[in-house]
Amino acid sequence: MADSVPISGLETSLSDSTGIVRGVAVRHTATVRLTHWLTALCFLALLVTGLEIVISHPRFYWGDEGNVNTPALFSIPIPASRKSVPTGYDYTLPDQNGWSRSLHFQTAWLLAATGLWYFVSGLRSGHFRKNLLPLAADLSPGALAKVVGSHVRLKLAGGDQTYNPVQRIAYVVVVFGAFPLMIWTGLAMSPAITSSFPFLVNVLGGHQSARTLHFFDTLFLVLFLLVHILMVYLAGFRKRMRGMIMGWYDS
Ligand code: HEM
Ligand code: HEM
Repeated sequence: MADSVPISGLETSLSDSTGIVRGVAVRHTATVRLTHWLTALCFLALLVTGLEIVISHPRFYWGDEGNVNTPALFSIPIPASRKSVPTGYDYTLPDQNGWSRSLHFQTAWLLAATGLWYFVSGLRSGHFRKNLLPLAADLSPGALAKVVGSHVRLKLAGGDQTYNPVQRIAYVVVVFGAFPLMIWTGLAMSPAITSSFPFLVNVLGGHQSARTLHFFDTLFLVLFLLVHILMVYLAGFRKRMRGMIMGWYDS
């Protein structure tokens, strides 16, 4: 892929109509930008449709079996959209399960395809090695304590040249952990897939365990997103957004 310019890699000079020379730093490649925004869009659609699916049965179980007649591992204290589900409320919410499930599965394929594109391109271009994987020196307890401390005080460490270590660790966990787990647990809930590849669900402990893990992974990703947007704001919202939309910013 020709599209392999790393973050803040290139500094070029542009002169505007008044002749003033400005530095322009190239921050994100077209592939990273396009796959990032497609992922964000898919995430939003999967979150809304996923929550519609949850309210049809807001009880969670562990193992293979789980239904209104078996004890729940935990339940979310909200009314359900199905009368048959005991929630303690004497009314039901509107049932939007039909379109939600259909959109959830269609978006899931788009998310998986986008993820594959990002993954193959990141491996081939060296983006993961250069920009995402934390450096060994950054992982020493002292270095980590320093950068975590500055994050907790909401004072961001580092400049524009590269992602800071906490940012790298968070991205690695999300890209190589939380998203693949989302796809895996999603596939493990699909009988058409598990009838051909039963180990996908057996390793997780059963269909209901896969559903519960899928739900917790959703909560984790929502938490990541809130912190992610807060950090983008603290690092300079306009500048960072211009980088992620246009690919460059004035330096
Ligand atoms: C679930 C949704 C999202 C996920 C999983 C996600 C994940 C990521 C990842 C992994 C990167 C690093 C990309 C790379 O270099 O390969 C990144 C960068 C970035 N994200 Fe997101 N993101 C999400 C949503 C958003 C949203 C909604 C916004 C804005 C409101 C946003 C703004 C940005 C910006 C500005 C950067 C670049 C940061 C920088 O240049 O330092 N992201 N995101
Ligand atoms: C970041 C992406 C995703 C989010 C936030 C998300 C969220 C959710 C939520 C909250 C539920 C409801 C849990 C329940 O009550 O059963 C759900 C259900 C489900 N999701 Fe996802 N999901 C995502 C990606 C995926 C992917 C990639 C797949 C498939 C590969 C998938 C397949 C499923 C299936 C099969 C169900 C159960 C549907 C049902 O019982 O009718 N999801 N998802």
